[in-house]
Amino acid sequence: MADNENGEAQKTTMMHSSILRVIEDKKNINQKLSCIKHKIGIYSAKGGVGKTTVAVNTAFMLNSMGYKVGLIDADIDCPNTLMFLGIKGTFSDEYPLKPVEKDGVKIVSTSMFVDDVKKPIIWRGPLVAKMIREFLDNTDWGQLDYLIIDLPPGTSDAPLSIIQLLSLDGFVLVTTPRHIAAVNTIRSGMMAKRLGVAVLGVVENMSDGTGSGGEEVARELGCELIGKVTANKLFGEMSDSGMVPVQHDEHVKREFEAIIKKIGF
Ligand SMILES: Nc1ncnc2c1ncn2[C@@H]1O[C@H](COP(=O)(O)OP(=O)(O)OP(=O)(O)O)[C@@H](O)[C@H]1O
Ligand SMILES: [Mg+2]
Repeated sequence: MADNENGEAQKTTMMHSSILRVIEDKKNINQKLSCIKHKIGIYSAKGGVGKTTVAVNTAFMLNSMGYKVGLIDADIDCPNTLMFLGIKGTFSDEYPLKPVEKDGVKIVSTSMFVDDVKKPIIWRGPLVAKMIREFLDNTDWGQLDYLIIDLPPGTSDAPLSIIQLLSLDGFVLVTTPRHIAAVNTIRSGMMAKRLGVAVLGVVENMSDGTGSGGEEVARELGCELIGKVTANKLFGEMSDSGMVPVQHDEHVKREFEAIIKKIGF
């Protein structure tokens, strides 16, 4: 009986110390990142809905509006962001991490540390969390107006680490017009709300008038549908060749300008 009580007491102490550690980590990271004005996650639990597309185009739209912008590829095991930007090659192994830059936008991604993008990164959750912590804790961002975080799908390690370690302004959720995408995006919104992170709004991507996924997510989560991005094959063509659509297409540019206006800061 006494052993059991001691065991229980020890377990409680261990739990208590790991909670304190998370709180302490969050405090330290946010102190380090205090020269970043706004931190926005681009998120959906559904894969392939256009999170990276929305993250990259939002980042470059903000950049062209004159803001200083950073972009974290938080898709640690399947990083795509540098491919979307046509950035290849080997990078500085300086520590703290030096982001790569394209047109003034600063980016960190796991693909900076692999010599062949096709090689799989096979990591368990704790390593994924560790990498995210490195990106947040040990990157030399300088002064930024916006840090945009491109999240992977799912509701586990990566989104949880971001939520635990970073004081976000909130998430912009991405869905497609399809019901199944909407349901999975609602899951991410509910996770955010349960963990105390604001939902800044929902973007319906690949919008073609054949469904109402954006409205469904907005209604269910009580948030605003802040924009629609039209389905357009130029997205696929441009991302495959490392071009950023907002830099080349007036219609796409106007869609992202409207989204940024709705985000409101
Ligand atoms: N509005 C759009 N119209 C047409 N194609 C699009 C649009 N948005 C994104 N795509 C294309 O859809 C594919 C998936 O987009 P993207 O990689 O941004 O999704 P994701 O949600 O980040 O995926 P993952 O869950 O794997 O991270 C890409 O080839 C992209 O170019
Ligand atoms: Mg992605």
